[in-house]
Amino acid sequence: PAPDAVPSLSQQLTDAVGAAITAAYPEQAGADPLIRPSDHADLQANAALALAKKVGANPREVGTTVSEQITAGSAVGNVEISGPGFLNLTISDDALWSQVEARRGSARLGVPATQAGVRTVIDYSGPNIAKEMHVGHIRSTVIGDALTRVLSFLGSDVIKQNHLGDWGTQFGMLIQYITEHPEHPWRHSDLADDSEATTVSALDTLYKTARKAFDADEAFADRARARVVALQAGDEETLMVWKEIVDESEFYFDEVYARLGILLRAEDSRGESSYNTMLDGVAAELEQAGIAETSDGALVVLSEDVKGPDDQPAALMVRKRDGGYGYDTTDLATLKYRIDELEADRILYLVDARQTLHFRLLFEAGRRAEWLSEDVDARHISFGSILGPDGKPFKTRAGDTVRLMDLLDMAVAAAETVVREGAEAKGTELDEAALTEIAEQAGIGAVKYADLSGSRTKDYVFDPERMTAFNGNTGVYLQYAHTRMVSILRRAAERGLTVPDGVPSALSDVALEPAERALVLAIDGLGDVLAAVAEDLEPHRLTTYLYDLSRAFTDFYEACPVLASEGSVRERRLALVDLTRRTLAQGLDLLGIAAPERM
Ligand code: ARG
Repeated sequence: PAPDAVPSLSQQLTDAVGAAITAAYPEQAGADPLIRPSDHADLQANAALALAKKVGANPREVGTTVSEQITAGSAVGNVEISGPGFLNLTISDDALWSQVEARRGSARLGVPATQAGVRTVIDYSGPNIAKEMHVGHIRSTVIGDALTRVLSFLGSDVIKQNHLGDWGTQFGMLIQYITEHPEHPWRHSDLADDSEATTVSALDTLYKTARKAFDADEAFADRARARVVALQAGDEETLMVWKEIVDESEFYFDEVYARLGILLRAEDSRGESSYNTMLDGVAAELEQAGIAETSDGALVVLSEDVKGPDDQPAALMVRKRDGGYGYDTTDLATLKYRIDELEADRILYLVDARQTLHFRLLFEAGRRAEWLSEDVDARHISFGSILGPDGKPFKTRAGDTVRLMDLLDMAVAAAETVVREGAEAKGTELDEAALTEIAEQAGIGAVKYADLSGSRTKDYVFDPERMTAFNGNTGVYLQYAHTRMVSILRRAAERGLTVPDGVPSALSDVALEPAERALVLAIDGLGDVLAAVAEDLEPHRLTTYLYDLSRAFTDFYEACPVLASEGSVRERRLALVDLTRRTLAQGLDLLGIAAPERM
């Protein structure tokens, strides 16, 4: 653990009440005290009911017995028994404030490094070469990036892997077409500077043109097929064109990643092609081990626990009848590579729900081949689709899939309206350049937040207006809350009021107000939430946390004047605003969302 790890108050109370349970009922040692939020106190312990059954006593009595064993000097300031034995726990002001100071003194806000020593491979984004990134690529890219950020922050050694679709028969027709039509523009250097077309839309056009030729012209189709054979045989000239196509596509993907603020870099790209040399060996290994068998001339792994619609065992295709390898074989090799070479403890596949069966079969085969042991946690992190306004898979009016860049433009346009109106209403002076920059941050943040804040496995409707609203559980709301905190601190600085270190001298004279206590408890919860995200890989826990934190801040700000208060009360409130701002900015950063200074 990091040297400055600060256990949360909830953790401290779990320990304190846990120790009290052990002291009162030694045979119940280790029972979970069930510390939960409370409407009547700071937190409550709900364990007495279950304990009472076990020890055969009245729950209220059990609650009393446990409460008598809570040691003085723990964070618990006061205990009250309520109802059938709930312990209402009030934390002492000193304990609350020492959390604030400990977190303020830590560059990582005291968050324990719960993932230290864990190597995690995260497979995300995975777009296909020579095709444009579209609406279907957002979720993998955004969720994968957020998990990368959270796990890295918690100390995991994260290896990002972009499993590009850079192999397959489509390259035969692309390469053949380029070779036969050297004048066809498709490289970004072929395009005029002011061209509307991006590289990949030029590549996309090439793809469509080549496809047409392939379907219409038998002779061309034959030459394209011969080209696939040449590519697979490693023909140098063919490989050179292939490489150029891959590089062109990646050039464009990088533009999307840069605009979205995604951490993926060239060195994270490990496309399907990079596993080619392993495929013969993988097929042979599975066949020799008796895991793969021949069926209809193909080599397949038949599942021992999943059946297909025809009630026959579902199959993973290891080698096709024509001797070729495909997506399944590549993923088998990839799994082996990640376990043997990358030495992963955990492997996360960020791929939409339609590939659920594929991953079940893949992991089953990996276990039967004894690559995948109990020590490796391989998981398909599945998610639903993004739907259009009609509640159906998002399509353009012409019926095409929506380009990712166009989707971002829609969100940024909606954000620009909202930011402009907001600035006018509040009288904020924003010049056009600032407005454009903030609208971009707000629009991109809104897309990411909308994607991360729902339950991962559900579909959701892409609604630019709703997701850029200033009110409600949106990215814009959180960004705006951040700007309010910045503005308070800025005004304080203008008046020469600094945010002091240490415990304000008069803390004990003026008790913490309920809204201050609630805000401290909210701030204090970041580490626990992140630890939970690392366990169940549900980023919406973090969005909900940040939303609650921002609301706790709003309540605090309404109830507790900051600049208009005085002395040590003003000092401690400034310290709270400062720490809330840092906590919110840290949380937004872990979601990959910008925290603007004004809007
Ligand atoms: N390129 C694939 C697709 O578009 C996603 C790759 C996911 N990763 C994997 N190891 N299969 O469907």
